[in-house]
Amino acid sequence: MTIHFYSIITTEGLGNTKDGFHSIQKRMSGFHASQCGFCTPGMCMSIFSSLVNADKSKKPAPPKGFSKLSVSEAERSFLGNMCRCTGYRPIVDACKSFASDVDLEDLGLNIFWKKGDKHPDPTKLPSYTLGGGICTFPDFLKSEIKSSLDFNDASISGPREGWYCPKSIKQYYKLVNSGLFSESSVKVVVGNTSTGIPELSAIVRKDKGIEIGAATSISRSIEILNQESE
Ligand code: FES
Repeated sequence: MTIHFYSIITTEGLGNTKDGFHSIQKRMSGFHASQCGFCTPGMCMSIFSSLVNADKSKKPAPPKGFSKLSVSEAERSFLGNMCRCTGYRPIVDACKSFASDVDLEDLGLNIFWKKGDKHPDPTKLPSYTLGGGICTFPDFLKSEIKSSLDFNDASISGPREGWYCPKSIKQYYKLVNSGLFSESSVKVVVGNTSTGIPELSAIVRKDKGIEIGAATSISRSIEILNQESE
């Protein structure tokens, strides 16, 4: 449910053997930043999200072929990603090579210029263009989301097996009372504070007490009760 109606880009979505590789993948390879390759897809996606986020910022436009990412942001791009064999230096170098404030002479051994080259040529790096159409939200998903918002009686005549996503308690009861399912055949999944039924996470203060929605987390409930007792 957490990823229901989300569009997910994997490393194959960035680039692959059929369509050609993305500059991130080429630079990871060119900076010798991949050994067994186990961590590499995750590292590439971490670099990609860092570049996308940096390029969304209001910082001034970077020089051609670079991102708005800074060297210090590049160094923090992999927190939480583990590499057991390459060592982080070449991975970070691959990421830093996109940074607008990078000094290319500081980067380690790579296939793009000779070791010790005092004036590395940035045009030798596989070219990077912002976005490159990768972050386009797919049309089929847009129409699926739209039809889910038009949830009505007609939606209930669907198959007996499937994933139904009511958007309110009213819709939920309409669905379970539709006669389409027997009570024992339905598994109700509640969770996800951002995309679930909002009423289930609602907190309503009333004269006689507080109504806490069934999907409210225990820690949030404790927080609210503490606030109220004060
Ligand atoms: Fe092997 Fe990173 S290259 S885990």
